Amino acid sequence: MLKISVIGTGYLGATHAACMAELGLEVVGVDTDAKKIEALAHGELPFYEPELPELLQKQVRAGKLKFTTDFNEISDCDVHFICVGTPQSKDGLAADLSYVNSAFAAVAKVAKNGSLLVGKSTVPVGTAEALAKTLPANLELAWNPEFLREGFAVEDTLRPNRLVIGVTSDRAENLLKEVYAENLKDQVPWVRADLPTAELVKVAANSFLATKISFINAMAEVCEAAGGDVTVLAKAIGYDPRIGNRFLQAGIGFGGGCLPKDIRAFMARAEELGASPALEFLREIDSINLRARQRVIDLVRSELALDLKSFRIAVLGAAFKPDSDDVRDSPALDIAAQIHAAGADVVVHDPKAIEPARKRFPNLQFATEIEECVKGADLILHLTEWKVYRELDPIRIKELVKQAKILDGRNALDRDKWRNAGWQFHALGRA
Ligand code: UDX
Repeated sequence: MLKISVIGTGYLGATHAACMAELGLEVVGVDTDAKKIEALAHGELPFYEPELPELLQKQVRAGKLKFTTDFNEISDCDVHFICVGTPQSKDGLAADLSYVNSAFAAVAKVAKNGSLLVGKSTVPVGTAEALAKTLPANLELAWNPEFLREGFAVEDTLRPNRLVIGVTSDRAENLLKEVYAENLKDQVPWVRADLPTAELVKVAANSFLATKISFINAMAEVCEAAGGDVTVLAKAIGYDPRIGNRFLQAGIGFGGGCLPKDIRAFMARAEELGASPALEFLREIDSINLRARQRVIDLVRSELALDLKSFRIAVLGAAFKPDSDDVRDSPALDIAAQIHAAGADVVVHDPKAIEPARKRFPNLQFATEIEECVKGADLILHLTEWKVYRELDPIRIKELVKQAKILDGRNALDRDKWRNAGWQFHALGRA
């Protein structure tokens, strides 16, 4: 049986480690954060992700998944997956590669002869080739980008829609085929690429997804100006199989730990490569995305008053998307904070993300119950489309608020149901 290590046990690493154990490998997860390792070793996750805690506990109990802070414990592994973060750097758009560099260096020190170091982190193109030059001749490097979505991380890792591997030898490809033998039995598409292409696949995919979302949000702006309805427009264009109906949900735009930072890092890298005109459009994608947040704030003002001081606003949703407690670059939380800064009395609810949101914005008010959040509100902002919000009873909620006004920032609520219950219902891109 192959033995692998997973370096970096954040969102990507913890998921990869547990899923690879589930697929039959012996796995050691490594992180420099002792507290995190201690928790994972007990089957506890420091973030919310459906199905992952159960899988983690199962594999830890079965003894196939271990966690450590000691790199010496991975010296006998055949393959090492580097899954550390590449956040946006503090002083610009580019990605901060310090974690990736130190992880590769730490593994290289202990790795046995002939082992394969596989990068999974999202990096600027050219990183893999540069790292390969730093490795001793008895070690090999490959790149294997990750496409998992938060909220579906387990499903996406156990049953990926493709596996992309950047390699420089058949030997490396064959080792990775052994790692992914169970996925290959399911006929998963397998794409072999060179190192730069493998790195580019990831940022190209995320740029395309970001473009799709900003495209529909641009159409929402036009619909608002022209008196159209973007939800109908999206449905109609989505029937064309060349366009497809997914990722055409207009609203307050994309956030999270990937899309925003990845398109920015991609632009920064293109500039270094002398190819910035090719990605100039991504600047526009970013602006359309940030403009969606501003449009909500403008709508709030036009609905209530220029000065928001005497108004109570209930915000439903803080996570950047449902089924996640991730608030990194969350459009919902950003809007809540901006309205709070403008003087409104803001109360935020989220089924899972209150604690991470409070950490980021300690001055915001939070409510653990929806009823408590909406009580006495002049306006409700629906900003993250959790299922519990779609299932709300507008008649019951109307008894609690001061004014029956709601703005659906995700185009996910049933407009007729709310209007029939006597609500003033507003949505982005629907005149
Ligand atoms: C994304 C990619 O989908 C994934 O392949 C990659 O590995 C990591 O980045 P994730 O960040 O989990 O995954 O979220 P995703 O489901 O892509 O949503 C991103 C953002 O776009 C969310 O804020 C979501 O609310 C928003 N979105 C998505 C829209 O506004 N409209 C849509 O139609 C779809």
